[in-house]
Amino acid sequence: MEITSFFHHDSSTYTHLLWDKDTREAAVIDPVLDFDYKSGHTHTESADLVIAKIDELGLTLRYILETHAHADHISAAPYIKHLRGGVLGIGRHIDQVQDVFKGVYNLGDLATDGSQFDRLLSEGDTLALGKLTITVLETPGHTPACIAYQIEDAVFIGDTFFSPQAGTARVDFPGGNAHQQYQSLTKLLALPDSTQLFLCHDYPAEGEAPVPMVTVAEQKARNIYLQGGSEQDYVTRRQARDATLEMPELILPSIQVNIQAGHLPEPEDNGVSYFKIPLNQF
Ligand SMILES: [Fe+2]
Repeated sequence: MEITSFFHHDSSTYTHLLWDKDTREAAVIDPVLDFDYKSGHTHTESADLVIAKIDELGLTLRYILETHAHADHISAAPYIKHLRGGVLGIGRHIDQVQDVFKGVYNLGDLATDGSQFDRLLSEGDTLALGKLTITVLETPGHTPACIAYQIEDAVFIGDTFFSPQAGTARVDFPGGNAHQQYQSLTKLLALPDSTQLFLCHDYPAEGEAPVPMVTVAEQKARNIYLQGGSEQDYVTRRQARDATLEMPELILPSIQVNIQAGHLPEPEDNGVSYFKIPLNQF
């Protein structure tokens, strides 16, 4: 397997492109659509870099995989799928996330069965990628629908662990659960120490470069939220931290799009699409 990771500075998100060297079949994980909130403009620079890499390497895109419905960026899955194909997958519990946010946004006609996606994935499901096998691990906590993708000794872990000095993902969005997250973290740490955990985000200190991958051994040794104590100690630490965090800048536009497989709102009769911003809900 070969992997190239793209860091999106505006949202601190990693998009990963992986492929089978022999058959040149590829998957993209967590692609980002650029969005300038101030002007209301979307653009595709970041997704175009991924597409250019796919073309440069002569890859065939088989899958576009989301680790969860992101709250800090809009997915570029429909854009990439339109241009290069690929089956769009997400965790099967996306229906729970859709249920919650259908209410928040008052999306009367939203189907909450995950049918906007091509594949709903469960623990142990496998996807063939050339000679490689992608295996799904359910990792709820940050959201109820979070999943990770394991290929050989690499796991694309979504929002579970961050880099060791940044800790773990927050659990205070609707449907988040610190106990579930602790169990998901424990599950990842049960993998061999040399397992490579590819991150969904990095938040490097000033002057430092972002890091796309951390091994299980490094997380065990250095992750700031894992240093001692019981599950309840972890939960207390995580919830105390979450109480200090502001909402992500793009959560309100992102979630309403990402629960609909990245499709932007239908244009109104003047040809313009509009986001809904629920007032006083968070
Ligand atoms: Fe997230």
